[in-house]
Amino acid sequence: MKLSLKRGQISSIKQGDLFVILSEEQIKNLRNKPKTFLETQIASKIPKKQFEGKSSQKVQITSDKLRFHLFGIGKESEINRESVRKVAGSISNYSLANQIQEFTVNSEVPKISNFHTVESITEGILLGQYRFDKYKTGPKIKLKQVSILTNSKENGLDKIIKESTIICDSTNYVRDLQTENADVATPLYLEKQAKDIAKKHKLKIKVLDEKILKKLGAGLILAVGKGSKYPPRIIILEYKGNPHSKETLAIVGKGITFDSGGINLKPTGYIETMKTDMSGAATVLGTIQAAAQLKLKKNLIAVVSTAENAIGSEAYKPGDVFKSFSGKTVEIGNTDAEGRLVLADALTYIEKNLKPTKIIDIATLTGAVIVALGDYVAGMSGTDSKMISALKEAGENTHERVWELPLYKDYISEVKSDTADFNNINYGRSAGCIMGAAFLSKFVEKTPWTHLDIAGTSWLDKPRDYYQKGATGFGVRLLIEYLKNN
Ligand code: BES
Ligand code: MN
Ligand code: ZN
Repeated sequence: MKLSLKRGQISSIKQGDLFVILSEEQIKNLRNKPKTFLETQIASKIPKKQFEGKSSQKVQITSDKLRFHLFGIGKESEINRESVRKVAGSISNYSLANQIQEFTVNSEVPKISNFHTVESITEGILLGQYRFDKYKTGPKIKLKQVSILTNSKENGLDKIIKESTIICDSTNYVRDLQTENADVATPLYLEKQAKDIAKKHKLKIKVLDEKILKKLGAGLILAVGKGSKYPPRIIILEYKGNPHSKETLAIVGKGITFDSGGINLKPTGYIETMKTDMSGAATVLGTIQAAAQLKLKKNLIAVVSTAENAIGSEAYKPGDVFKSFSGKTVEIGNTDAEGRLVLADALTYIEKNLKPTKIIDIATLTGAVIVALGDYVAGMSGTDSKMISALKEAGENTHERVWELPLYKDYISEVKSDTADFNNINYGRSAGCIMGAAFLSKFVEKTPWTHLDIAGTSWLDKPRDYYQKGATGFGVRLLIEYLKNN
């Protein structure tokens, strides 16, 4: 699909499908004093009750070879970038449903700069048209050509479309990885993906395979991977967009390609979406791919820590103790708390060997974060208040929102075991999301670090706004925005 900028006025469009976004105030005014041809058409042809510019209202009028589609965006006092994304998302759903594969969207929206309107329309359209239909047979309708119409002479609008397309394409790539069969998207498949990205963008790559992991003594990721026929991997990609700077952000993703729970097997109702337990890893791959394509002047390390948490006679067992790469020992209280184990070894490796100046880990770590925040907002805990507030801001800008849960020392002191240094579950059912972070904190010695729990936000049980039911690719837009501004 092609998405591009078209300069000109609404009146210059004489045929085809034209989408116009209107606020409640705009529709009221133009009914009172219609000025242009379009306004006269609206005022004379559309009954008041039928279209008042409310969000989710839409109406179509035809004139000659031109079809106008009016989409409401609500009251001007309530319009923001997210409302533009939402309308654009419904425009792409509507077009697909009505087999409109080529259309123009006008990009003048009150209260929002041209720049942000063009950006938000691009996001809403590209994320909104995404379908995972690889395994569907039969005809597949796709958008072909979308033009974003602007009357503004402003520079930079073409550029923001290009950049936003890169970021959304990467987000949709993440959604593909998340949704792919667990027996396709294995740890070795993630390795192949990382290698492809490295080759395409000339990035440095290092793969720690099971032999190297054994040699290093990364006993936690090895324990998690024991029950699977697919061996575990820690994969490291490096993008150096600013060789003069000492600042490097490392992003570490949980890549459990299927989380059966292990011997603490997950029951029906909880296991069905567990092919997506590599969402953090997918996001990390999508983010470094986007950063490289955007040529961001920043340094980024992407780390994928991946294994399959399988069940079988080889699987690791509750009650056993394993030695981590850091040297600390961990008692397995529950084989279903596997994410923190694979992350722990990766965090130690990264901090010791690559010495980044900041670390963010991103993981579908706990069901508890869903209890706390649902699927609207991701959980966040960490040791650096500056990072936390910067991530919060990036979340507000992109609407990939994060909310801090406190990592007080009291929680960290609960991480303990009778037979080992730590247990992978502690403190009963209490503060599940924070306790995940508390465990991880034991494996980051001194680098400013933030943990993001995306178990809720990475997957939707029903369609919402510019997302279909299913994978969201959550985190690419957030992390790119954070990286750009920090
Ligand atoms: N992958 C799950 C968390 C999860 C739950 C992701 C729902 C997506 C949707 C994780 O490995 C897990 O099983 N966590 C346990 C931790 C517990 C045993 C301490 C959980 O949340 O129940
Ligand atoms: Mn689990
Ligand atoms: Zn898991």
